[in-house]
Amino acid sequence: TNKVFIPEVFFTNDCLTGEDVVKSTRVLGDLDGVFQDKEAYGKMNKEQVVYHVSSYLPVLESTPGGLFMGITTLYSGKVGQEYFMTKGHFHSNSDRAEFYWGVEGEGFLILMDERRNVWAERMFPGSLHYIPGKVAHRVANTGYQKLVFSACWPSDAGHDYATIADTGFARRLVDVNGVPTLV
Ligand code: F6R
Ligand code: ZN
Repeated sequence: TNKVFIPEVFFTNDCLTGEDVVKSTRVLGDLDGVFQDKEAYGKMNKEQVVYHVSSYLPVLESTPGGLFMGITTLYSGKVGQEYFMTKGHFHSNSDRAEFYWGVEGEGFLILMDERRNVWAERMFPGSLHYIPGKVAHRVANTGYQKLVFSACWPSDAGHDYATIADTGFARRLVDVNGVPTLV
């Protein structure tokens, strides 16, 4: 089915822009350096959409004690043998935790702690994932349809993309003879 979960929002935020819902899109061109296979990446259309995020923001960013909610739609695809995935990040306030849960499609949540240990949890409609503080997180779509998942995180978590941009994840999820494998 093509049903996408769109919440009915029962809040008005105090955000300066007056927007309750902030939508953002990452195209392939925004993910330079994210995928291993530079040659395959170089040949692909950089305008191709990899994922959309709708963020529901009832309080201002960095407010202590509040919560944010987001819905990510990650499309199916690969760069070389590596599945389409989100950039991934630690939280700037590094001890802030987060919930992810699967809504539609299938994939894996890839997690990495500060000692660079990496593991993965299968995502599917109804899967629930607790991401402890100090654990970097990204999601890969291993299916043939879009993967939709939701997230809930503290409004003072912030996003540290720089650490992952600099040093990456210690393992990658790739297609090895049709099987998603952490290498
Ligand atoms: C928020 C969170 C998610 C992601 C989203 C996109 O803390 O983890 O809402 O922001 O799935 O992934 P990134 O932010 O890694 O591009
Ligand atoms: Zn996060």
